[in-house]
Amino acid sequence: MRRWFSVVAAVVAALLAVAAHVSLYSPISPLPLPVSPFTFTPNNLLQRAEKLGEGRLEGPEDVYVDGDGTLYTATRDGWIKRMHAANGSWEDWRLVGGSSLLGFTLSVSGDVLICDADKGLLKVGKEDVVILASEVNGSKIRFADDVIEVSDGSGAYFSDASSRFGLHEWFLDLLEARPNGRLLKFDASTKETTVVLADLVFPNGVALSSDQDFLVVCETWRFRCLKHWLKGKKTGETEVFIDNLPGGPDNIKLAPDGSFWIAVLQLRSKGMDLLHRSPTAKTVVAAFPKVVKALQAMGRGAMVVNVGSDGKIRRMLDDSDGKVMSFVTSAMEFQGYLYLGSLHSNFVGKLNIRSDHPL
Ligand SMILES: *[C@@H]1O[C@H](CO)[C@@H](O)[C@H](O)[C@H]1NC(C)=O
Ligand SMILES: *[C@@H]1O[C@H](CO)[C@@H](O)[C@H](O)[C@H]1NC(C)=O
Repeated sequence: MRRWFSVVAAVVAALLAVAAHVSLYSPISPLPLPVSPFTFTPNNLLQRAEKLGEGRLEGPEDVYVDGDGTLYTATRDGWIKRMHAANGSWEDWRLVGGSSLLGFTLSVSGDVLICDADKGLLKVGKEDVVILASEVNGSKIRFADDVIEVSDGSGAYFSDASSRFGLHEWFLDLLEARPNGRLLKFDASTKETTVVLADLVFPNGVALSSDQDFLVVCETWRFRCLKHWLKGKKTGETEVFIDNLPGGPDNIKLAPDGSFWIAVLQLRSKGMDLLHRSPTAKTVVAAFPKVVKALQAMGRGAMVVNVGSDGKIRRMLDDSDGKVMSFVTSAMEFQGYLYLGSLHSNFVGKLNIRSDHPL
């Protein structure tokens, strides 16, 4: 009898200790995240990618190819590096600094507009780096993520993924699954930044349509992208562009034919889908940094999806186990090739996607 009592007392004490730990240390206040089932047969076509700059590019999150075929990427050492099309040689091109460089684009002015997750939206010129926006309406831009410039250079749209968690805590923002982010616009003539869309769930990649009549912004943790009208009779309206993606959409880029390439993070699994249903379970998990780290490391695979301007999936390419391409964060098409950036690789992938090429 006494033995039973001490076992029960020990169990109760352990449960109380866990409860106390969770209430003291859990940094999140989560919502359930509804996810519908998605079936996809892996084709592993991304495994055919060639590796560019291997060993010299640490975590090239975003990629960009200019009209001459020069390939640009921003790496964890704070550099924007580029590869010349003519001879394949890499150059450390412009030093920005820091370790949090994410989405960028070449401006019509010849400068680079780049999101530094910690600092905000920056303009990188030949000689200097200028912070264009670090706050909006008095609130700090905590997680600048991706940027696209309006083609006449009059401004740029960019995302602030989360006002609660920074780049190194992104998984906590995923577990929390709250609308902590927003889409912003920087006006080049007034130098002012305004909120275009508030209450987004991890707004990440931003792209403009070929006619610049709408933009698409991807809400990573909602596994969907939104379409926001900029011209025509629906101006100012927002609708769903594509939803129920087989993972979290990261960067999105306009393809030459007017469709879009979306890099899709492999964040979904049976276990994670189940975890997302229970805010209590997520609160408990988030109190243990080692568990968070282990869960975060599971999404090794890679996927890119080609979506028409009508929001319909046309093509899906993946590397289900992340054998060659892992955690692909951006995909840009140029002259029949797809260039693949990845936060977890030390190279940029290059894949032949020409229709006469047997993929
Ligand atoms: C490669 O080409 C670029 C641009 O044409 C040139 O500036 C650079 O010096 C070349 N590098 C090598 C190693 O040939
Ligand atoms: C600016 O912030 C204030 C106070 O938080 C809010 O009431 C207002 O709607 C915001 N304006 C814009 C344009 O976001």
